[in-house]
Amino acid sequence: TGCFTYDPGFGATASCKSAITYIDGDAGVLLYRGYPIEQLAEKSSFLEVAYLLMHGELPTKEQFSSFEHEVTHHTMMHEAFRTFLYGFRHDAHPMAMLTGMLGSLASFYHNDLDLEDPEQRRLAAIRLIAKIPTIAAACYRYSIGWPIRYPKNNLEYTTRFLHMMKEVPSEPLELSPMAAKAMDLLFILHADHEQNASTSTVRLVGSTGANPYVSVAAGVAALWGPAHGGANEAVLKMLEEIGRPENVGSAIAKAKDKESGFRLMGFGHRVYKNFDPRAKIIREMTHKVLGELGINDPLLEVAMKLEEAALKDEYFVQRKLYPNVDFYSGIIYKALGIPTEMFTVMFAIARTAGWVSHWLEQQTDPEARIGRPRQIYTGSPVRDYVGFDQR
Ligand code: CMC
Repeated sequence: TGCFTYDPGFGATASCKSAITYIDGDAGVLLYRGYPIEQLAEKSSFLEVAYLLMHGELPTKEQFSSFEHEVTHHTMMHEAFRTFLYGFRHDAHPMAMLTGMLGSLASFYHNDLDLEDPEQRRLAAIRLIAKIPTIAAACYRYSIGWPIRYPKNNLEYTTRFLHMMKEVPSEPLELSPMAAKAMDLLFILHADHEQNASTSTVRLVGSTGANPYVSVAAGVAALWGPAHGGANEAVLKMLEEIGRPENVGSAIAKAKDKESGFRLMGFGHRVYKNFDPRAKIIREMTHKVLGELGINDPLLEVAMKLEEAALKDEYFVQRKLYPNVDFYSGIIYKALGIPTEMFTVMFAIARTAGWVSHWLEQQTDPEARIGRPRQIYTGSPVRDYVGFDQR
């Protein structure tokens, strides 16, 4: 009982006003601060997009250099972080480590953080964008037993991350311009997506006045699930399991069978009911990257067959289920030599730009108040307590 609107999964509830990202799910439109995702994907860079999301406008040359300088000079981790890292099991999932490590940032940078001061809020946002690649790379290297590397300040944001993650001293990492572009593109496409589960989580935690470090750590936790950011890892595992184009038919049949508990990973979206514009861009990039790197990955053929078969199938057509951003991204990450368990971590690094932008926006929103959903109570009516002897 009660006079609330029942809206499980918040499909029809706007929880805030926001000027950051616009989605028209029927038309397949995605805009960051008014700029079409297609144009940003072609012409911009991830760090410029991060600036745009945070500040609302594209930077001038000077504004961009100063932003880049700031981000670059906050990339180091406090040395004591190693102690936290070394406490994890060596085989911990990198997302588990990332969640814990990001939360622990609050123990280093929160004590003297005055949330009333806009400059300090901005600095906290910069720290998060700057440090998450360093932390993510350290989590990965720890998981495979490699020594942690310091960030190289002479590199660009995305490339710096790849170097920290993969480089060994005797073999400098050679990245082709196409590989660097592909990584940056994936980061641009993942940077924000309005009130998705993880961003809503960041806002919910932020609405209580909690600091941005733990708010973003909560966002990372929400992202991990396979219905959200964990889908990119799940897609690759699914494609590997399907293995060959001949097996696509039975995978489709299994996904249609509700009893099986199996869904086509990388398919469907709460908001996009026509197509996911990010998936279109990624599909094109997948062909370019594999072509240029001379990789003949049989999983690409499986993915293409799966998409083709699903798009012709009555079940998927009726329910308006299309490939989403995560359907092809894993194939690119794989081609770039990123291990599968790092895929969702990559998503988290990129989405940090969006999370901090939403957190910043919330801090100055005059209508923002603590997030406090209601419920429809379905439990017992009032009753009297009885002792053990009467139960
Ligand atoms: N495979 C098979 N059936 C599906 C799928 C799928 N991937 N997705 C939805 N359906 C069916 C679902 O069973 C339901 O059928 P019915 O009407 O007969 O009960 C109908 O389509 C509507 O699904 P829903 O679960 O009510 O839709 P939702 O808006 O709550 O869920 C979703 C959206 C993305 C969680 C869901 O489509 C899904 O689980 N997809 C697979 C996981 C995935 O790829 N997630 C990444 C999303 S995009 C990136 C991100 O957000 O991180």
